[in-house]
Amino acid sequence: MNKQQIRSYTKLLERQRRKTNVPERCYRTQMKDTGNAVEFDNLQVQFFTDNGIVKSVDGVSFCVPTGKVVGVVGESGCGKSVTSLALMQLLQRPQGQIVGGEIRLNLQDKAYDIAKTPEAVMRQLRGSAVSMIFQEPMTALNPVFTVGRQIEEVISFHDRRYATAQEIKNRTLELLELVGIPNPQGVYGMYPHQLSGGMRQRVMIAIAIACNPRLVVADEPTTALDVTIQAQILELLASLRDKLGTAILLITHDLGVVAGIADLVVVMYAGRVVEQGTVQEILSCPAHPYTIGLLASKPVVGKKTDSLFSIPGSVPDPVNLPKHCYFHSRCSHATQACTGEYPAEIQLSPTHKVSCYKENTHG
Ligand SMILES: Nc1ncnc2c1ncn2[C@@H]1O[C@H](COP(=O)(O)OP(=O)(O)OP(=O)(O)O)[C@@H](O)[C@H]1O
Ligand SMILES: [Mg+2]
Repeated sequence: MNKQQIRSYTKLLERQRRKTNVPERCYRTQMKDTGNAVEFDNLQVQFFTDNGIVKSVDGVSFCVPTGKVVGVVGESGCGKSVTSLALMQLLQRPQGQIVGGEIRLNLQDKAYDIAKTPEAVMRQLRGSAVSMIFQEPMTALNPVFTVGRQIEEVISFHDRRYATAQEIKNRTLELLELVGIPNPQGVYGMYPHQLSGGMRQRVMIAIAIACNPRLVVADEPTTALDVTIQAQILELLASLRDKLGTAILLITHDLGVVAGIADLVVVMYAGRVVEQGTVQEILSCPAHPYTIGLLASKPVVGKKTDSLFSIPGSVPDPVNLPKHCYFHSRCSHATQACTGEYPAEIQLSPTHKVSCYKENTHG
């Protein structure tokens, strides 16, 4: 595709997305399993840039079951954030487009195919059915409005149960208390810059859960926080799952965070899922050489070592991805077979899947 063709293609996709009055049947779909809050099915996201087509997400498939925490791990640039932004339809437009696959969002009585859902409907879904906690709360919160006003805005936009100003305020105070803010009345009237990083992240969580969404996406919610506050925020997310049955898609590059809170783990590499399974399966019997490398590069308490293990080499260029396994050039288990087709997914247990020839040849 030349630059001219890329421009007209992105304009066409953008026009389709912005169309109003699209009948619901055009974007309704069926969940494969109604126990899932969201299903990513062979999702492909590309950015059409002047330097070429960036294949950020290249056939990602996994599910987030209702009431479970799914941790998505992988090194920087592997497509974790792009996957979650595609779910929220918040990709940078018009360059970023979902070009293939489906994201099925479960709305209890029906399901929507997110890629086909028009912008007007998405605006209703964001906050009420699915919401997002961003990595840096200071940039996500509005600096010129009080915390109380920002939470109230979400409630009055989405939740018809709270009609009067007093009811909305009471609900806001209830939410501030629920996320562990010690002085809800005082914090209600404060501006984001008057709060600590941990408190701002709690406010972000209060906004995210204000309308009891079925699914919360948390993109590195604890990266900017110190370890004690990190532990408290993770505890809070776990209690949301346990008390409200919220499904959580937790994006992180920290395997310690995953071990502490996740039920299921998805390991991504260069825009693909290379391995997925329960947290026990991934941590105790990792099958993909990349997952094994990730685990080996974590320090172990009580084990003395001169230097930590690191995976040699670097991630392939997302504009020129190879035809064979993307991890091949860095893999210590690579054989002749690995230069063939990209390895298909192998089922190691009902929940554990891996894409690697090593599992084919050595079992
Ligand atoms: N707006 C954009 N334009 C072009 N390429 C983009 C854009 N946004 C993301 N990408 C590319 O998509 C790929 C995946 O990016 P993504 O932000 O999902 O990585 P990530 O896994 O979240 O990394 P990190 O752990 O650093 O947050 C990267 O190669 C990135 O350069
Ligand atoms: Mg990211």
